[in-house]
Amino acid sequence: MTTGSESLEHVRIFDTTLRDGEQSPGAAMTLGEKLEVAEMLDAMGVDIIEAGFPVSSPGDFEAVSEIAKLAKNSVICGLARAGFKDIDRAGEALKGARRPRIHTFISTSPVHMKHKLQMGPNAVLDAVGASVTRARQLTDDVEWSAEDATRTERDFLCRCVELAIRSGATTINIPDTVGYSTPQEYFELITMLRNTIPNADKAIFSTHCHNDLGMAVANSLAGVLAGARQVECTINGIGERAGNAALEEIVMALKVRKDVMPFRTGIDSTMIARASKLVSNVTNFPVQYNKAIVGKNAFAHESGIHQDGMLKHVETYEIMRPEDVGVKGTSLVLGKLSGRHAFREKLSALGYELADEDFQEAFKRFKALADKKKNVFDEDIVALVDDEVVRGHDKIFVKALKVESGLGIAPAAHMTLVVDGEERATTATGDGPVDAIFAAIRALYPHTASLQLFQVHAVTEGTDAQATVSVRLEENGRTVTGKGADTDTLVAAANAYVNALNKLLVKREKQVPEVLTAAR
Ligand code: KIV
Ligand code: ZN
Repeated sequence: MTTGSESLEHVRIFDTTLRDGEQSPGAAMTLGEKLEVAEMLDAMGVDIIEAGFPVSSPGDFEAVSEIAKLAKNSVICGLARAGFKDIDRAGEALKGARRPRIHTFISTSPVHMKHKLQMGPNAVLDAVGASVTRARQLTDDVEWSAEDATRTERDFLCRCVELAIRSGATTINIPDTVGYSTPQEYFELITMLRNTIPNADKAIFSTHCHNDLGMAVANSLAGVLAGARQVECTINGIGERAGNAALEEIVMALKVRKDVMPFRTGIDSTMIARASKLVSNVTNFPVQYNKAIVGKNAFAHESGIHQDGMLKHVETYEIMRPEDVGVKGTSLVLGKLSGRHAFREKLSALGYELADEDFQEAFKRFKALADKKKNVFDEDIVALVDDEVVRGHDKIFVKALKVESGLGIAPAAHMTLVVDGEERATTATGDGPVDAIFAAIRALYPHTASLQLFQVHAVTEGTDAQATVSVRLEENGRTVTGKGADTDTLVAAANAYVNALNKLLVKREKQVPEVLTAAR
């Protein structure tokens, strides 16, 4: 169990959810969503927020510069390749930051240098010196990374790191870019670098481990044991391919196992559950049920033996308190007899404070749901309230929907939409019921956006489970994701499509620039 930790050595938490995390295929976030995540990271005590890769797109540039302005505590970091154009762009995006950091990187492994960069070792060394020197002209806080460090020839890595420090790098990051390392190897690599490089004590060493073999967290912690004092990680472990080391696992491992890892982080761990939900919502990446720390089942006890043990003493089956990560220990199951008081308590336990009007609307929807569903779980309430918040200010909404489908019946949707207060009704047919619904929406509100993604998730188990539907639309390079939740999957689908349309309207009004894809 946890103890006081003020005297322990500090391990900096560098969160890259908004940069490496956003590189997960399909995890793109809007500017508003990135600001919301950044605000949460700043509030929970993240030391450094990597807010994006400014040169890669106007959208990333804007995100970094807006986050730079809003951060109250965290260092804000922008990524840059070794070229001056990248570095200068990062410097420009970070102008409004109280505490800016430029993070510049270049590949150092033989396979990357030969096939990706087509540069020899001497040219790479020149680029290391020049890029760090350039970045130091723009800020005192410069991080340098050796991309694919764990597959780099050791002598060459030492030369690169020594030069980066001599040129002014204050943090040296040693990425296991392809998730190839093992904890023992990574421990030895960090130890060797710190013991061999003459100026190693002038910089903080950092870990950046990918999870291709499921060892990202173990490798990062091995790095800490070897002397690294910064860990790069993401909420829910999202990131390229199999992802990055998960922030919540690093933080809780250091908190729970101080006996063998005597370090502290500055993270308020009670905000972990909310941060995890937020990132899952904005990226549309569900969190695996049995995910450590933040999975739905991480603090659930199913078997009679475990429940019996838990009732006798919680430490029989729990190594940390659910409250320490922001999860309420006991799950109060709500049903149709629950009143406003219980509902309000539940909302507050789940981290929601709704304005009275929104609360009344959410309560009405909760009662309607409780009539349809045997058990209303926490996840149902989260989906219901999020749906209410998501759709609260929409200009277009679905007023009525009736769908005909079945064996031997041509699927048809009878729909009434309200557009800016005006009712419009039609009947449309399609290849299936969802196709018919979407055809009806297109007929009632003509638009050129194309459908990129249609995804259905069950919020809980059982045939009466609520469904959450995500719909991604694309128009002239702008993409938006809409969401809907209902026990009726078809209603959720219609709401999700209409919610995406509403978001598109907002983007059109604001003339949000197209997100360009750039080499990452
Ligand atoms: O995985 C990696 O090597 C990276 C670098 C850009 C730090 O993300
Ligand atoms: Zn990475």
